[in-house]
Amino acid sequence: MNYNNLITNYNNGITTITINRPKKLNALNQETIKELHNAFKEANLDTNTKVIILTGSGEKAFVAGADISEFANFSVEEGEHLAANGHKILFDYIENLSTPVIAAVNGFALGGGLELAMACHFRVASNNAKMGLPEVSLGVIPGYGGTQRLPQLIGKGRALEMIMTATMIDANKALSYGLVNNVTAQEELLPFCETIAQKITQNSSVAIAEAIKAVNANSKDGVNGFDVEIKGFGKCFGTEDFTEGTTAFLEKRKAEFPGR
Ligand code: COA
Repeated sequence: MNYNNLITNYNNGITTITINRPKKLNALNQETIKELHNAFKEANLDTNTKVIILTGSGEKAFVAGADISEFANFSVEEGEHLAANGHKILFDYIENLSTPVIAAVNGFALGGGLELAMACHFRVASNNAKMGLPEVSLGVIPGYGGTQRLPQLIGKGRALEMIMTATMIDANKALSYGLVNNVTAQEELLPFCETIAQKITQNSSVAIAEAIKAVNANSKDGVNGFDVEIKGFGKCFGTEDFTEGTTAFLEKRKAEFPGR
């Protein structure tokens, strides 16, 4: 599919989705949000794609936030709808995708940009990256999951400090907080993410999908994550991947997972 605001590229089991509005620091307008939904859906349905990498174009920004020019005149109802729709079609959608998603944070990840990175399964940043939730400086709060995912990732005190001060942290502080898993030089960011992605592609995609579901259950209200884990564990025993994985181990060879 062709997109106005995205570039997608497939190579060796990995689909890279690049948000491509560099003149607006890749800010998320509504069209981009819809296109991202479609691109993630398409990659998730593609059985060749085992990992998705999400990044921003240019050297300056991953995503500098939701597009402020689009919501500056919104009413209470429009504001609520904007957040609810974003959660549904993009942020929760990515978090619950069965294909692993790595955020390659290549510069500013602010507001909706950091929220987008946090909806991904994990994050790697380049050393020029800067992250923050500056919404209260605009008179609003984070509305795409930031008040929930940031405390989950870095703890309540640090999250509230970042939200209340509206200031940015650099890549090394993000690393020390556990907000990103690794920091690389800018030119190394995508190759580094691709190396991690390649390791993931060697493993059972059906088992990985069950692991994502079980880990996500940890933060869902009214859901017992241990029960989800037990069910997912049992389900794996009925897959061709499990037969192949265990047989290959016993035959002392590398598994070739069919992904079923
Ligand atoms: N929404 C809409 N447009 C944005 C944007 C956003 N979130 N972030 C940046 N842009 C646009 C700017 O308006 C500017 O457009 P213009 O050239 O047509 O005027 C362009 O991107 C470049 O940004 P600029 O501010 O000139 O770059 P800078 O290097 O001076 O500053 C930032 C970079 C990231 C510090 C600054 O752009 C910024 O603070 N952006 C808003 C961050 C934010 O509050 N995000 C949360 C939104 S809820």
